[in-house]
Amino acid sequence: MHNAIGTGKEGAFMFKQMKSDIRTVFENDPAARGLFEVVFTYSGLHALWAHRVAHALFKRRWYTLARIISQISRFMTGIEIHPGARIGQRLFIDHGMGVVIGETCEIGDDVVIYQGVTLGGTGKEKGKRHPTIGNNVVIGSGAKVLGSFAIGDNCNIGSNAVVLRPVPPNSTVVGNPGKVVKQNGERVRDRLDHTNLPDPIVDTLRSMQKEIDQLRAELEETRRELKKSAPEVMLSSINKE
Ligand SMILES: CC(C)(COP(=O)(O)OP(=O)(O)OC[C@H]1O[C@@H](n2cnc3c(N)ncnc32)[C@H](O)[C@@H]1OP(=O)(O)O)[C@@H](O)C(=O)NCCC(=O)NCCS
Repeated sequence: MHNAIGTGKEGAFMFKQMKSDIRTVFENDPAARGLFEVVFTYSGLHALWAHRVAHALFKRRWYTLARIISQISRFMTGIEIHPGARIGQRLFIDHGMGVVIGETCEIGDDVVIYQGVTLGGTGKEKGKRHPTIGNNVVIGSGAKVLGSFAIGDNCNIGSNAVVLRPVPPNSTVVGNPGKVVKQNGERVRDRLDHTNLPDPIVDTLRSMQKEIDQLRAELEETRRELKKSAPEVMLSSINKE
């Protein structure tokens, strides 16, 4: 993660990064048509560039100026990135409106974030209180990742998921609260459904009842057969009973 403003060398690096950011838009968004359109209309790009300036100021302890830049960027793009957030290479924020990225958040390389995503705190932690996002992670629209834990590399966070716990690498998380439904390409089933715990006694009684019903039906069938073939024998046996 690099951030730089100031010297000529740093300026050249920043320009290289901007070119890489534009390339990232073309790689991620099939709707992106031309350079002019991307540079002037992609708010995710504008927010990222503003954040680089704000973050560099933040690191130099120019906190208020950094916050002012961050807030102007928020006003213009609808994306709020705290100047303290550490963002890796090739982040793509698609649409962007309503995205909030907290101060102690760390984002790896090649991450895609859609509109309405919050990378925030639970309000109960102090110090590092925002998530750490691995490399190559997709965070769907409206998803909330709340707390100081890690999302592993190559994860997919489904739209509107609310993630409150660490997520191992190569996982897909969906729902509220977020659950891992896929890992390393395999579906993950619930290990134990606490609301539908199995009852072995009821299961045994049910299978006994089933067997009794079956035996009764068989007995009835045999009686009917006997009645047809030898009614007198049947009658005497019934009389004996
Ligand atoms: C999660 C996501 C990235 C797909 O990841 P994936 O690893 O390919 O997962 P799959 O599509 O195989 O889905 C796995 C399971 O999760 C379910 N699922 C997927 N996304 C879900 C979501 N957002 N909410 C609830 N369940 C979801 C699927 O139905 C599937 O369930 P099943 O196993 O019972 O069939 C994708 O569904 C998603 O939400 N992308 C965000 C895209 C977005 O925000 N677009 C906005 C464009 S403007």
